[in-house]
Amino acid sequence: MSNAPESVPAATIHLRAAGCSLLVLADDDRLPRIRHWGADLGEQSSAGAAGIDIVSDPHSHLSGELPASEVSVVTDPTTGWFGRAGLKGSRLGRSWSTSFRTTKVELNGRPVAGFTEGGPGTLRIAAVDDEAALTLHLVIELLDSGLVRLRATLTNDGADFDLDELSLNVPVPSQATEILDFAGRWGMERQAQRHDFTVGTHLRESRRGRTGLDAATVVHAMEPATTFSAGEAWGVHVAWSGNHRHFAEHDSTGVRLLGGGELLLPGELQLATGESYTTPWLYASYGVGLDAVAHRFHNYLRDRPQHVSTDRLVTLNVWEAVYFDHDPERLIALADRAAEVGIERFVLDDGWFGARRNSGAGLGDWTVSADVWPDGLHPLVNAVRSHGMQFGLWFEPEMVNLDSDLARAHPDWIMAARSVLPREQRSQHVLNLSIPECFTAVHDQLVAMIAEYEIDYLKWDHNRDHLEAGLQSAGGAPTEHAQTLAVYQLLDDLKERFPALEIESCAAGGGRIDLGILERTDRVWVSDCIDPLERQRLMRWTGQLLPPELMGSHIGSPRSHTTHRTHDLSFRAATALFGHYGVEWDLGAATEDDLRELADWIAIYKKHRGLINRGNVLRGPDPADNLWLHGVVAGDRSEALYGVAAMSWGAASTPPRARLRGLDAVRRYQVAPIVVGDADRGFTPPRWWDDRTAVVSGAALESVGVQLPNLHPEHSILIHVIAVD
Ligand code: GLA
Repeated sequence: MSNAPESVPAATIHLRAAGCSLLVLADDDRLPRIRHWGADLGEQSSAGAAGIDIVSDPHSHLSGELPASEVSVVTDPTTGWFGRAGLKGSRLGRSWSTSFRTTKVELNGRPVAGFTEGGPGTLRIAAVDDEAALTLHLVIELLDSGLVRLRATLTNDGADFDLDELSLNVPVPSQATEILDFAGRWGMERQAQRHDFTVGTHLRESRRGRTGLDAATVVHAMEPATTFSAGEAWGVHVAWSGNHRHFAEHDSTGVRLLGGGELLLPGELQLATGESYTTPWLYASYGVGLDAVAHRFHNYLRDRPQHVSTDRLVTLNVWEAVYFDHDPERLIALADRAAEVGIERFVLDDGWFGARRNSGAGLGDWTVSADVWPDGLHPLVNAVRSHGMQFGLWFEPEMVNLDSDLARAHPDWIMAARSVLPREQRSQHVLNLSIPECFTAVHDQLVAMIAEYEIDYLKWDHNRDHLEAGLQSAGGAPTEHAQTLAVYQLLDDLKERFPALEIESCAAGGGRIDLGILERTDRVWVSDCIDPLERQRLMRWTGQLLPPELMGSHIGSPRSHTTHRTHDLSFRAATALFGHYGVEWDLGAATEDDLRELADWIAIYKKHRGLINRGNVLRGPDPADNLWLHGVVAGDRSEALYGVAAMSWGAASTPPRARLRGLDAVRRYQVAPIVVGDADRGFTPPRWWDDRTAVVSGAALESVGVQLPNLHPEHSILIHVIAVD
């Protein structure tokens, strides 16, 4: 017989924040349901008024199937739900069918029953299934930003339980008929894909042991023809840096759900009696227009105490300048040049350690290579610091080359699921950081380097996908879950020991961009492609999750190393401006003119970084198919900076106007271009270009806009707008 606590009376909780309402029903005989997530419903006096009776129509389900409003946040087949089950697992084929009874409902730590209304808050719900001997603890939060997040913890109260999946979901209404999410590859991450939300499951899975270059990032369901500024849109994001899934599910009864969770490998998680498993957070953002969805993510990130300051330091990364060719004299000369143009942080990339003269050796041996650095890194670090710059260093802590002292000493630390090692990628394998001795070895090497050189900034790379991620000593048992937690632990330990250390999340470019890694890192590397034409698109869509100050954004060489396109400095610099600014170009090969212009661009960034690093991001409306507009507007609408990029040559011979959104309709603004370097861009400037006397209302700038010049393809302009009253 069970001695479980009494069941609870029904509770309906209506939470409101930042223009968003979340209405949750929790009662005794099943898991909680979200009755509404979306537009603010305003204050209500009772559950009925809050729309439950409108949303829920018990007579509409003729077949006995579950109506949309009855689908719980962990979908549960025993309630009559025939879609994907949120909880999958068994005890060798038993206890696979679960039915939970709610035993506790608390809002902000206090029990609630009946109808309760409040601002942002945390709802904690406990539920048990006595027969299956399982307990679920759910956390559902509405944050100040209006972002919703959900998490579940499953505890096994019986004999060993094999857990296959624990996913959470949120419902979206029937007008959400389109899906938008992202795909990608190396150098081309976050390609937007948009299509109908048809019956079936749109399933996006990553089995790469990292978030993935092809990550879905945010899966949206939205009204047809939703733009950056119009149309209701709902998006979810799984905050996990290992194997994971997102899904958008639409069943024949009309239910539409967005959800996700961790993807567990076969047999990966067995819960012994009393053991628990906690899912990653599922974040859910609602807005009218895709910008509004993005703003909730941005505002949430910016609200965190550990969020970066607005004074993001201009960075030089030497990867595309020298690759593996480390010559201390040349690098010191590069540091001198960097300081001259105003760079504030110097990052030494791959190639400084062990036998790392190319990608085939050295990973795992995090000590300075005496071959190329006979006096250690000190001469370089001293030169960097003598200019008042910070010093940053590249690591790839989870990886190992077979040609390394570490692999020779501990071949059993390498991930493998069979008697042979998995296929190599980039000549490297993955270390099992869940092995305590391996964790300690990597940890201690990192700590020693950071301490010796007082490293300010660590670029943390993860260049290969995981394959056959098993633990050799356990017969190849899967170890992805433990690996992701170990990586988090390592990052957390370093942050605790070196609180001022900034960490960049890089994975062959933008392969590890998620809110799990961003809890413990300070920016991401958006992509290995720094061709500004590609970067316009990459920044536009990475911005769906991240604000500019978290997106590493560099000015590359005139000729892109990835695409071999050539661009003027003005396009490269103006494109990179809307991120965490940096340079990745061999300044030793730059002309004096280039360096002068680069210094001017860096000065422009420094002048505007307060705005760029806290402003509200706006994308579109694009003046034309080939002309992309984006910008940042200060929170108080006193100032804005817009960029217009000509992605190709335009169809019309007369250039269109750019409508500048986000300003205060009744305030008046002065509009001016930001011109750096050679003012002659080969176009006839429109009248406002040189006219500092013109003052225009925000309403006029939004509805009429400013006339654009006839931009050459793959060029851009910057428009600065400042309030005069
Ligand atoms: C990855 C990163 C690059 C660079 C190289 C070094 O590809 O994305 O920026 O650090 O590794 O090997």
